[in-house]
Amino acid sequence: MECTAKDKADAGRTYPVLDRFEVARHPTARLPLYRDWADGLGVNDGGFTIGTLLESTIIHANGCKPAPRLLNQRPWGLDRLEQIFRANDEYRLMELFLFHFRLRGTTLEQIFLGTRAFGTIEPRNLEVVLSTDFQDWSLGPRRKVMFPFFGDGIFTQEGDQWKRSRDLLRPQFLHRQYEDLGVFRQSIDDLFSVLPDGGVIDLQPYFFQLTLDVTTAFLFGDSVNSLRNKMQGGQADFAASFNLAQDYVAKRMRLQDLYWLVGGRGFQKACDTVHDFADQIIKKNLMRDRTMEQESHQYVFLDSLAKHCPDPTELRSQIINILVAGRDTTACLITWTFFLLLRHANVLEKLKAEISTTLNGRTDFSRSELKNMPFLQNVLKEVLRLYPSVPVNSRVATKTTVLPVGGGPDLQSPVLIPKGAAVAYSVYAMHRRPDLYGLDAELFRPERWTEHMPLNEDPVNAKWGYLPFNGGPRICLGMDFGLTEAAFTVVRLIQRYPNMKLPATEKVELVGVEKQTMTLVLSSTNGCKVDLGS
Ligand code: HEM
Repeated sequence: MECTAKDKADAGRTYPVLDRFEVARHPTARLPLYRDWADGLGVNDGGFTIGTLLESTIIHANGCKPAPRLLNQRPWGLDRLEQIFRANDEYRLMELFLFHFRLRGTTLEQIFLGTRAFGTIEPRNLEVVLSTDFQDWSLGPRRKVMFPFFGDGIFTQEGDQWKRSRDLLRPQFLHRQYEDLGVFRQSIDDLFSVLPDGGVIDLQPYFFQLTLDVTTAFLFGDSVNSLRNKMQGGQADFAASFNLAQDYVAKRMRLQDLYWLVGGRGFQKACDTVHDFADQIIKKNLMRDRTMEQESHQYVFLDSLAKHCPDPTELRSQIINILVAGRDTTACLITWTFFLLLRHANVLEKLKAEISTTLNGRTDFSRSELKNMPFLQNVLKEVLRLYPSVPVNSRVATKTTVLPVGGGPDLQSPVLIPKGAAVAYSVYAMHRRPDLYGLDAELFRPERWTEHMPLNEDPVNAKWGYLPFNGGPRICLGMDFGLTEAAFTVVRLIQRYPNMKLPATEKVELVGVEKQTMTLVLSSTNGCKVDLGS
């Protein structure tokens, strides 16, 4: 899918930065797009094996054709890894992936570290991978990569074990558990007590503390109160080790099967610190007699989970899995929301007006009042379109199978995926497709969600072309919790600082051109500086 010069001009966006990648300068990158599609599928074939017979049968039965290939300049696809590390060092990894899809098509094949791998941003293919053929796809090396930190929890499990965890955890996320927003209120008050009345500050680190406090309050019934207390001793070690262990996991994830190159004592120490601290909090909270406490009516995730999960190691793993899943994802959503609102004064004004008309200054609003603010909901939807907290993900084929589209000269033929091949998908790139979201797909415009969009002309695209929370049986369990937490924080901050604005020293760049840091989630490298007004 390529944009013509006119399309780009129409969308008010050019892509000058993309040309800086070496791949774009290399002569092979400029060859006609599907030059090599006729090379056939035998790239790695060592001979006439059972595998190739099976593959030929599937190819003929389904009319499969090869997907366009990203050409390599070095053996074993080592240049791919070099590009990834370089783009990451330059804080624009997402731009590299976006560029690859724009260069070759919405489904592509590449050699990555000597093995065939695929990429797709095609809703029809995602429907098959994440839902219709769910059982034919695994998480690949994820379990081995994450296990030292995550242990045996919903994120690292598959098959029956995963199903059991999912059944165990699902009921804990019913929204009636936080309908009154009580679990968010204490932490936002703590945030207000540490923020100055005016002046310029970076909100991003505060949002990471806020979501740590909220998520621990929800899970343990007792927040680690990182905002309220200056963290000391074990608590500070926990927070630092929690971040460090996640950084290790993110680096291991990038290396896929070579994950073991990153780790060692530093990683193990960080994991041990997090596990010891989590064990202590769990023990302390399970021993507490809540019947005498003021908050005895409050729902506590841990108490409820412990009834069905007597093994302390499993209990700790599940809790850590949810802490990781819920904390950074929501912190990033809140950060990018303010990042964009501050750069789009017209949107901020419209949102302020909705908040003021709906609540008239009240701060004791409920979850359903937040849900009844359509512009607020569309702002969050639009932020997650442009900055999905989990921007790339992958699955591995457990048997030789087929993706419905992406092959052949017109990119409409099915594509054969051999057993063991990885398929990476970038929702960041999919959410920026002009043929799904319109020529202004790269602009931040919450109003688009109330207008006609090409996305909605096809029911499969409408369902699988917007996936910030993933889809199918493994869809995010904390979707409503995260959206409610973000909406609550946005409203309370705007009420508290109605005159907030972008500091005069801050850059206003095209959306997506700013520096981005990719760990397990996508955050803003230069934070989110705000002038809180007076
Ligand atoms: C804006 C906020 C959030 C976003 C964008 C988000 C996104 C996602 C995504 C993309 C996945 C799928 C990962 C995969 O299968 O590869 C996921 C899974 C999950 N999320 Fe979230 N999440 C958010 C907030 C939360 C919160 C607040 C919690 C809990 C407190 C949570 C709990 C989970 C759990 C338990 C899973 C695993 C589901 C499974 O594998 O069956 N998430 N989330």
